[in-house]
Amino acid sequence: MADDREGSRGCENRTDSEEDKCSDNDFETSKLGTKEYWEEAYQKELETFKDIGDVGEIWFGEESMSRVLRWMDKAKIPEDAAVLDIGTGNGAFLVELAKHGYRNLTGIDYSPASVELARNVLQAEGLTDVTVKETDFLSCRGELTDFDVCIDKGTFDAISLNPDNNKECKKLYVHTLKDAIKDNGIFVITSCNWTKEQLLDRFCEGFQFVQELPTPSFQFGGKTGNSVAALIFKRVH
Ligand SMILES: C[S@@+](CC[C@H](N)C(=O)[O-])C[C@H]1O[C@@H](n2cnc3c(N)ncnc32)[C@H](O)[C@@H]1O
Repeated sequence: MADDREGSRGCENRTDSEEDKCSDNDFETSKLGTKEYWEEAYQKELETFKDIGDVGEIWFGEESMSRVLRWMDKAKIPEDAAVLDIGTGNGAFLVELAKHGYRNLTGIDYSPASVELARNVLQAEGLTDVTVKETDFLSCRGELTDFDVCIDKGTFDAISLNPDNNKECKKLYVHTLKDAIKDNGIFVITSCNWTKEQLLDRFCEGFQFVQELPTPSFQFGGKTGNSVAALIFKRVH
C-alpha cells in the first residue's frame, strides 16, 4: 500500500483546514481503497482455497499476528475477552486467536467473498464458534459494541486509500471504533501507510497510547525507519 512518512501535530480542536494538514491527505488514493478491489481479490483467494487449501495473503506476515498475541499474553487479556477483527480478510488472524485459546471472536469484513473465505478457512480448522459477519465498518454505527479488544491489521490503511471522500471515511472509522470498544478496552493497529506519529495523531481523542510493539526496522540514507507500525491504545473517555 502507499507509503508516506510525515510528522504529527496535536489534534485537539482542529479546524477543517488544520485537519487537512494533519497528515490527512498526504498520500494518493488507490484501488486498494475500494470494495470492488477486495471483492475481486477474495473471490480469487476463495477459489484457490477451495482448489488447493491455500488461505492466501497474510498481510504483513505471520510475525504481525505473533507480536500481537505475545502482547495479549503479557497484558493478560482473558480468553473470554470479546475480540473484534476489523476487516478480517481471509480470517487468518481469527484462526490464530482461536488456536491461542480466545473463544469470543468476531470478524467483520465488507467483502462477501472475504466473509465466505474466512468462514471456509475457520471451518477447515474445525473452528465453528467464531462469528464472521458481512459488515461495512463505515456504515454500521451502533451494530458493533462492547468489545474488549479491537484488532486492525491493514484495514485502516485500506480505508485511508478510498478514492471517495477518504477524509470522511477516516473520521467515520474513528467514530465507529469508539462505539465498538468498551471503556478501558484495547485497540491494536498494524499499519504500513501511517507512521507511529500519524497514528498517535489520528487516535488522540478517546484513546490513550499504551505501547508500540517492535517491528522490523530498515536503514536508508543514514536514517533508520520502520516499514510497519504496530500500536496499542486504550479506550478512554
Ligand atoms: C489489507 S486487507 C487486510 C485483511 C486482514 N486484516 C489481514 O490482515 O489479512 C484490508 C481488509 O479490509 C477490508 N475492508 C476495507 N474497508 C472496509 C470496510 N469499510 N469495512 C469492512 N472491511 C473493510 C477489506 O475487504 C480487506 O479484507
